Amino acid sequence: MEERSTSFWLRALRARRARIDAGGSEELVGTLKWRSPELRRAAAKFFNAAFRAEQSGLKKAHELADMVRDRDPELAEVLVLYGDEEGWHEELLTQFLPHIGAEIEPMGRITSLFYKAYGKATRIDTIVLTNLLFETLGATTYRMTLPKIEEPAIRKMLSILSRDESFHVPLNIHLLEKMSSKHPLARLRLKLQCSLLVSTMVLLPWASRPKTGIFDGLGALELSRAYAENMDRALRRAKGLGLGVPWIVRRALGVSRRRTLLRNSRRRPGKPLLRAA
Ligand SMILES: [Fe+2]
Ligand SMILES: [Fe+2]
Repeated sequence: MEERSTSFWLRALRARRARIDAGGSEELVGTLKWRSPELRRAAAKFFNAAFRAEQSGLKKAHELADMVRDRDPELAEVLVLYGDEEGWHEELLTQFLPHIGAEIEPMGRITSLFYKAYGKATRIDTIVLTNLLFETLGATTYRMTLPKIEEPAIRKMLSILSRDESFHVPLNIHLLEKMSSKHPLARLRLKLQCSLLVSTMVLLPWASRPKTGIFDGLGALELSRAYAENMDRALRRAKGLGLGVPWIVRRALGVSRRRTLLRNSRRRPGKPLLRAA
């Protein structure tokens, strides 16, 4: 993959911001009628999880911007614009939830445990690594859910989220390469944290399926495998950091780097799983 500088990401984010500002907002009329209360409940859980991810993404991106502004104002602007995109998603979801007959709910136990731990992180590389993994999980879930949904308003919401989170994955790879410490001990710590995080994150589908499975129609193992494949690919693209999904996790889930590579080479051009821009 070609080398992309901070200036490249800044230009891309400015152009995206101009498009968002020019786009205006479409009013959602009425409330959707669901086939069953269980389906409505599952959709409410699905989009509440998305809402929390946006809130946290916005906060952390702006915190990171404050941390780097003195030494790298260009990178700080990238982080502000990136956080603003998450803020825009948060606004869209705030309007969208009532349209599907849902409201903003308190976080569940596992979600709140994750965000509490993430909220306490102060090391720049830990924050960026966690962001990259969250973005990869979000992009994967939205892209896999989209083909299963027919309702136009839900498809539109999922299309925006999957398009933008897929853009945020390579952006976060750049941020991780740029912002992680070069110190060998810090690199080792990041590797250990990465192994621990991805090993936990591949288990998340078993916690989320009972809540959202009937809405997105995805099985625990297929989602977990997709998470492992996409996290592995994203992590391995971060140059010089030696990150990836541990062999034992890939083996347990039946994820083969060779098979992933072959499948990707057969994908239609212009439709990569993780979009670059
Ligand atoms: Fe987002
Ligand atoms: Fe994002």
